[in-house]
Parts: sequence; structure tokens; C-alpha cells
Amino acid sequence: MKVLVVYAHPNPKSFNHAVLESFTKGLADAGHRFDLVDLYDIGFNPCLSQDDFDRLAKRETPDDIKIQQEKVTDADGLAFIHPIWWTGPPAILKGWIDRVFFMGFAYNIDEKTGHYAGLLKHRKAMVIGTAAASETEAKAAGLEDAFKKIDTDGIFRFCGIATVEEVIFHNVVAADDLTRRNYLNQAYTLGMTFE
Ligand SMILES: Cc1cc2nc3c(=O)[nH]c(=O)nc-3n(C[C@H](O)[C@H](O)[C@H](O)COP(=O)(O)O)c2cc1C
Repeated sequence: MKVLVVYAHPNPKSFNHAVLESFTKGLADAGHRFDLVDLYDIGFNPCLSQDDFDRLAKRETPDDIKIQQEKVTDADGLAFIHPIWWTGPPAILKGWIDRVFFMGFAYNIDEKTGHYAGLLKHRKAMVIGTAAASETEAKAAGLEDAFKKIDTDGIFRFCGIATVEEVIFHNVVAADDLTRRNYLNQAYTLGMTFE
């Protein structure tokens, strides 16, 4: 299977980067091919602008969006790795979704009935998020529900991907080495067992 991995963290020495390395090692060891989009590294512009709207309406997709859409189309599976910031993905990743999963590419809305149809056919989307909150704190604050509802239903299922797996690594700021190693092992296994 070919997996597109979209990664959003500015620091190559971060825990998230270690998660990325473990996950992609798992993918490679399982014999999957993967393509990596490191959003900060490529300086992806996350702002959906009026110019984008105008050009997309004329089917003149801006080059930076077209490059990403080709990567999405070329993949059988999608994986996203990012820290949870204010209960969701960092703005650079949210903006990647705004611009790349544009109407006509990721979904369509019938102008007469208002009914929508997802256009993505990937076998699976996986999201690995890291949080400072413990599992108990995250549940109490509604973080888990909000995160899963928005990603799973609001984005991926809306766009047609039925199988969505969300994993949150909790308490990562205060985690000891053993806990972090366990998370990295889990990330490796998630890559190894991606199907
Ligand atoms: C702007 C910002 C917003 C954050 N919002 C949340 C949040 O809503 N819930 C949470 O549990 N942690 C939140 N955090 C903590 C990050 O999730 C945490 O620092 C990160 O997962 C640690 O991974 P890293 O070491 O790879 O950066 C936030 C951190 C930042 C910088």
C-alpha cells in the first residue's frame, strides 16, 4: 500500500518527530511505500485565499495545491501526525485541509439539493495526535470527543473515507522515558499494521 504521511511540527527534535520516525519505520518494515509531506519544512501556505477560490472556480488549481492533491490521489492510505493545539491540529495542517481538500476534489455539494458526496476513496485515514493533557483531563475537557468528532466525521468521513483511526498519546509533556518509549513502540506498530 502507498501511504501519504502529512506531518505538522516545526521542531525536528520534537517528540512528534520521534513519533514520525517510528511510524514511518513501521510502514517501511511492513513493506509499504510512503510519501512524506513535512508541512513546516516545505513552508506550506495554509491560508485559503480569495485568489484560491477564484482560480479553483475556473479549474486553474494553484500549483502548490495541485502538487498536494496529486500526492493525495496517488496514495491508498493517509496518515497525519501532529501535536494537538487548542483541541485540534496546528493551523498549518488545518490550512492544508482547507486548501487541498477543496470542493470538487475531496467532496462535492449538489447546488440544487445541498446534498454532499465524498470523493476520496482511501482505504484508511489515521491520525496520531499528541496531547499535554492526561486521558482523564482530555475526556473531562471534551478534548477527545471534539478531536475525534471533527477529524473523523467532519473531515474524513465527510470526504468519503469510511475507515478512520484516531490515536492520542496523552500526557506527553510530563511523560517519563519509559512512557515515551512505549508511545514510540505503539507508533511503530501502527505503521507496521497499517492496512
Ligand atoms: C499552541 C498550543 C496549544 C496547545 N493546546 C493543547 C490542547 O488543547 N490540549 C492539550 O492536551 N495540549 C495542548 N498543547 C500541548 C501540546 O499538545 C504538547 O506540547 C505537544 O503535544 C507535545 O509534543 P512535542 O513535544 O512534540 O511538541 C498545546 C500546545 C501549544 C503550543
